[in-house]
Amino acid sequence: MTNENSYLPITLRLDDGQALVVGGGMVAANKTRLLLSRCPQIIVVARELGAEMMHWHQQGRIQWRNDEITEEFLTRNLPSMRLVFAATDDRTLNREVARIARSFNIPICVVDDPEPSTFITPAIIERTPVQIAISTGGAAPVLARRLRGQIEALLPEGLGRLAKFMRARRGWIRERADNVMARKRIWEDFVDGPGMEAALAGDDTIAENYLGAAVEKSSLKGEVWLVGAGPGDPDLLTLAALRLMQNADSVLYDQLIPETIMERVRRDAERVFVGKKRSHHTLPQDEINAELIRRAQAGERVLRLKGGDPFIFGRGGEEMEALVDAGIHVRVVPGITAASGCGAAFGIPLTHRDCAQTCLFLTGHARADGTLDLHWPSLARKGQTLAIYMGLNPLKELCHKLQINGLPPDWPAAIIEHGTRSDQKLHVGTLASLPELVETRKISSPALTIVGQVVEHRRHINNDK
Ligand SMILES: C[S@@+](CC[C@H](N)C(=O)[O-])C[C@H]1O[C@@H](n2cnc3c(N)ncnc32)[C@H](O)[C@@H]1O
Repeated sequence: MTNENSYLPITLRLDDGQALVVGGGMVAANKTRLLLSRCPQIIVVARELGAEMMHWHQQGRIQWRNDEITEEFLTRNLPSMRLVFAATDDRTLNREVARIARSFNIPICVVDDPEPSTFITPAIIERTPVQIAISTGGAAPVLARRLRGQIEALLPEGLGRLAKFMRARRGWIRERADNVMARKRIWEDFVDGPGMEAALAGDDTIAENYLGAAVEKSSLKGEVWLVGAGPGDPDLLTLAALRLMQNADSVLYDQLIPETIMERVRRDAERVFVGKKRSHHTLPQDEINAELIRRAQAGERVLRLKGGDPFIFGRGGEEMEALVDAGIHVRVVPGITAASGCGAAFGIPLTHRDCAQTCLFLTGHARADGTLDLHWPSLARKGQTLAIYMGLNPLKELCHKLQINGLPPDWPAAIIEHGTRSDQKLHVGTLASLPELVETRKISSPALTIVGQVVEHRRHINNDK
């Protein structure tokens, strides 16, 4: 049995090998068409050929063998093949071809039968030499084709021309920049700027001018991007965050960044975890700062990826200060902060004309002695919402202090656990009941507490994960 993750998309070189297609009908023709421009020797074995196959045969583009498809034939011919398609209308025969191909470790695709196959063909978008392959791992070929249509519509016609322009100038760039990272920068600058548009339009002279300018301005100057990754749902990343995630040389991240977001970081960017280590201590802030500075000074474009917004309880301010003081160029990209994400996830508005004209973001992070250093009279007020970050441990004290400073015990409150993630949960209570909920429901971090009448204005909305 295959699972949804058992397929690795690769592009297979066929210009120096031969391929075998078993079958001569329409289904076989569809697979043969994929091979025509890629493989110089296509052997089709079938008793009869359909019209299209016959046409290719007459043009000399395929070799037709009308042999009997026997075990002896397959055993003799399969070992020299780069790949095989079994595309007859006889399922048993197709599976027999697969069995023998597998015994020689030759890649085999049985059309419409993923089980005996060792590869499947994706839906392909062609802008030669650019190819985009879309696969659903055999789960839903129709979906792959629908996606192909949608992506096709987004891609500029001149994409192939652009790729050819870039291919033709790789040597020229190599002579001018001997360092891999510098070359990567030059190309990134080029494709992010007007040079790319010129090459797409076929205006090679103008494109070359821009490429020359990118070479001149190229230097291995590092920088740091302080980027907010939002509360966890990758759909809540900003476009700027996604772009920088795709361009970074390295990424420093912590435990608030879920794997589903890390998957969107460029695959070859170095990943450095600076969150909780086995000792359960985060890397000290000055060590993180020093690491960011060291990397930027070595010329890296460093992505400092932070949960939520970097400037809201994220120590982004301290990192920015240290970097700027060290002369490093810094860019800050805001993210959706946990309060906004959690409120939206469960239909809890943070302000409301009827009951909350103010919304305070506060941290329930306790001091070393376990007490909270907060101005209670200004927090324990009606007409406002409190969004409390990092407050699970001291929640008992927090709820108690809000009550002794004037809020009633039945004042509405809620905890949002793992907000915006697939396992998010809402726990609704009051100031009096909330601490017990944490215990009985074993609520875990990250969790955000919202206190105020806005909790009663929540509505069930369709944000289910
Ligand atoms: C160090 S603070 C970082 C806040 C972050 N910079 C932001 O803007 O959301 C960590 C706290 O944010 C809250 N938080 C972050 N992500 C959350 C999520 N997905 N669900 C609930 N609370 C979250 C929790 O209170 C957590 O303890």
